[in-house]
Amino acid sequence: MTFPKDFLWGGATAANQLEGGYNEGGRGLGNVDVLPAGPDRMSVVLGEREMLDFEEGYYYPAQKAIDFYHHWKEDIALFAEMGFKTFRMSIAWTRIFPKGDELEPNEEGLKFYEDIFIELKKHGIEPLVTITHFDCPIHLIKKYGGWRNRIMLDFYERLARTLFTRYKGLVKYWLTFNEINMLLHAPFIGAGIVLKPGEDRKKTLYQAAHHELMASAIATKIGHEIDPENQIGCMVAAGDYYPNTPKPEDVFEAMQEQHHNLWLIDVQARGSYPHYILKQMEREDAKPEISDADAKILAENTVDFISFSYYSSRVASSSPEDKEKTAGNIFASIENPYLKASEWGWQIDPLGFRITMNSLYDRYQKPLFVVENGLGAVDTPDEAGHVQDDYRIDYHREHIKAMRDAIDIDGVPVMGYTSWGCIDLISAGTGEMKKRYGFIYVDRDNEGNGSLKRTKKASFDWYKRMIASNGEDL
Ligand code: BG6
Repeated sequence: MTFPKDFLWGGATAANQLEGGYNEGGRGLGNVDVLPAGPDRMSVVLGEREMLDFEEGYYYPAQKAIDFYHHWKEDIALFAEMGFKTFRMSIAWTRIFPKGDELEPNEEGLKFYEDIFIELKKHGIEPLVTITHFDCPIHLIKKYGGWRNRIMLDFYERLARTLFTRYKGLVKYWLTFNEINMLLHAPFIGAGIVLKPGEDRKKTLYQAAHHELMASAIATKIGHEIDPENQIGCMVAAGDYYPNTPKPEDVFEAMQEQHHNLWLIDVQARGSYPHYILKQMEREDAKPEISDADAKILAENTVDFISFSYYSSRVASSSPEDKEKTAGNIFASIENPYLKASEWGWQIDPLGFRITMNSLYDRYQKPLFVVENGLGAVDTPDEAGHVQDDYRIDYHREHIKAMRDAIDIDGVPVMGYTSWGCIDLISAGTGEMKKRYGFIYVDRDNEGNGSLKRTKKASFDWYKRMIASNGEDL
């Protein structure tokens, strides 16, 4: 078996986790800039504690991150050396529209990304661009309340139109929102929302979700009009739910969790709200305002492909005493005793990857694109600075084998695979540098010390060989 010959192997990143240069090139301040490192970070991410500016006594890792802003040429050369066919990156909204509601974009920001795309093309690497990866200008949060407010559709539309127009011919693969389902769990990063005391959480978040779904459909429409070559995808934090036992109540719970996780991309992929979420919203008296005109836009502008992140499967149980959680990206689930876990407690389940791919394809019948998968681990360089990260190689090997089986044995069409954090970057969840995913080591620590020097890890050569053999040499 071989992977399709045009399979898009590569790596994935997000602007706020690698760029730095937060106040350079005319850039404005975003929600992602004011996420502090340390124990208070999570409450800010979740929209429970308001932090809309830098505060004394905190370290903000996104300000410099790994300084891709000044190292991008060197980094792209390393990606090219690994043989990347694609590179997933995101746009910092605040580089293009520093406050978010300007009428004219910031040329310096546009030029920054244009130069990157040209450089990628020079190396034969297709950019895969996320329009927003947990990114929202602070001004839009302060003035309009973030995605609560329907006016956000206008600002997002302007952003999308500007990008599609300027990068026509340079960028063909686009994602509208990173992990759109995350807004239900972490509204500050997902939708620029800090919940007010007494605010109806469900109502606010469903309405914000509707606004993002509309913005996504409008962007899909414009993207297709500006360049019919554009391929536009949705993006979900995936990972199938297993029932904790064969007890029907547990199976039912797993089905409900699955529904809860997928309804947003049901809308993006199938063009309408699924029956179960409409009923649930009614029951909860939290139905968003959806006009007939909205329904038409959603129906007419579905995505071309389904992209997703996969780190682990999840477990659901109907018994309250089983609510003991394991770690995971924001939404934790019940521990699965059959699986090992990473140093951060994220459980490792390559077969779950294949199961997830099957259920996504069963459900949507659209090509899949794996845009995040990887292992966050502590890397310890030896005296010569070399990292022998066999654990990371094992992780990717097993997941790539599972993906191969999904394609080859199960017949699931997959467009590509971009490993998360192909170069070390700051963790979205914890703000740490220590939680490394990369094939390239970056000398920087949790407190922001280090030379920023880039060094190839053992996994660099492995990934390079794997790509050169189109997935044969695992
Ligand atoms: C995904 C996000 O949820 O998980 C990334 O899209 C994030 O931004 C990745 O970095 C891994 O999570 P973490 O918390 O280990 O950085």
